[in-house]
Amino acid sequence: MARCPFDACDGSGLIVDEATRTVYDCRCRPQVIARVKARSLSAVIPARYRDIGFDRYPVTEIDSAIVTATRRFCDRIEDNLTQGRGLWFMGPVGTGKTTLAMLVTQAALTAGRSAARYSLPGLLSQIRKTFDTGDHNDLLERLTAVDLLHIDDIGAEQTTPWVLEELYSIVNARYEERKSIVITTNILDRETLCEQITERTVSRLTEMCDELPLMGEDHRLDVGLPDRQDAEPVARPGFLR
Ligand SMILES: Nc1ncnc2c1ncn2[C@@H]1O[C@H](COP(=O)(O)OP(=O)(O)OP(=O)(O)O)[C@@H](O)[C@H]1O
Ligand SMILES: [Mg+2]
Ligand SMILES: [Zn+2]
Repeated sequence: MARCPFDACDGSGLIVDEATRTVYDCRCRPQVIARVKARSLSAVIPARYRDIGFDRYPVTEIDSAIVTATRRFCDRIEDNLTQGRGLWFMGPVGTGKTTLAMLVTQAALTAGRSAARYSLPGLLSQIRKTFDTGDHNDLLERLTAVDLLHIDDIGAEQTTPWVLEELYSIVNARYEERKSIVITTNILDRETLCEQITERTVSRLTEMCDELPLMGEDHRLDVGLPDRQDAEPVARPGFLR
């Protein structure tokens, strides 16, 4: 059981008054409920990102202004989640967007808040499945209840009216409930993003999230030497850079 963020209960979200033999809700109870609901959502931190930290490679190599902004957000994660503030990482392939977004998700979990993380294509296929099982509204409700929703790779999906409507429903539900979203996208140009995921979705995301642009080239191509921290980047054989 996670600690009570207010140090008021044993983490269960309930306070027992021994004198009057009554049980009442702790201030943290909504968080406890959101956490239980989130358990059936996507597994949160995938293996590749499990050991990341602000003081470790590769985060130490990422644009320091953007890392600092992310760190500041994480330092005030409780407030940010309570106010429904989010972050929007944008930039070319392999520049560290998902890595930084994972740090935010990790900070939320460490603070005892619930978080779920999906790639947008993965989330959509999850939603498609609910049409067979009939629990579409249930999934949408859980996606709205979770304290932090991290959606990776927005704009990477082939869009159809259905996809756009589903994405809009999720973003709008969280917008209305003042719930935080962290997103990553390869699309830097607002106009293009509007064409890709509709203006009304982009408009809400813009209001909910601080935009953090990452520049540079694809660091996935930096492989080749065993100790890559100290190594000069080496192009992978066979690729033209
Ligand atoms: N600035 C950087 N310096 C060195 N390595 C980096 C840097 N940014 C990312 N990496 C490494 O590059 C790989 C890709 O990082 P990440 O998945 O965060 O990129 P991304 O921006 O989300 O890419 P995509 O747009 O393809 O999803 C990881 O192995 C990561 O450790
Ligand atoms: Mg990514
Ligand atoms: Zn409590």
